[in-house]
Amino acid sequence: MGTRRGQFITVEGIEGAGKSTCMRVLTELAAEQGIELLQTREPGGTELGEALRALLLGHRHDGMGDDTELLLMFAARAEHIHRVIGPALERGQWVLCDRFTDATYAYQGYGRGIARGRIRILEEWVQGELRPDLTILLDLPVEQGLERAGRRSEPDRFEREAQAFFERVRHGYLAMANADTGRYRVVDASRELEQVSNDIRQQLRAFIGAIDA
Ligand code: TMP
Repeated sequence: MGTRRGQFITVEGIEGAGKSTCMRVLTELAAEQGIELLQTREPGGTELGEALRALLLGHRHDGMGDDTELLLMFAARAEHIHRVIGPALERGQWVLCDRFTDATYAYQGYGRGIARGRIRILEEWVQGELRPDLTILLDLPVEQGLERAGRRSEPDRFEREAQAFFERVRHGYLAMANADTGRYRVVDASRELEQVSNDIRQQLRAFIGAIDA
């Protein structure tokens, strides 16, 4: 008998939503429950993926075409699935990924205006049946997120976008979450860190409990 496939968990949200803290909280709680989470991120997660990330986020290619951006995201994802995510899940390991294809629908779809159907074609091509089992969406007002993100570092190619772009991204994430309440858990990330962390812990506990049941 083969090992049971690992669970695939993703964390999503606009800039400044607190994804890094969320990743840490999830990893710690999982460890307490005896589950080791393989932490990774998109775009990135492999040597080639990280090189593509640098091209995508840096300013050397400001003005890159929307389709180019979309295809580079999926190129990085194809490599990531082939080398890291797929093999880990196959051997029964759980994977925790900082962003995945929902980010493509939110940023390249809702944000840039690329038709959902075109993204769907790439999703099916690159991922086959692979979809996250659980997605934590950290939601907060755009202004609050950008304010937090702005304090951190020089804005990357996405962070330079206007507020209206991030409003579309946020709206897109919430629309996807409303359409698939089985997979998404929306966490109000505008609150104090402790409340947000407690909420995240509770969501993961419930998810693990449902699997073991
Ligand atoms: P972050 O993961 O450090 O927040 O930054 C990654 C940036 O890339 C973020 O602005 C969202 C963007 N992105 C997309 O536009 N499409 C995607 O498919 C992914 C994974 C990320």
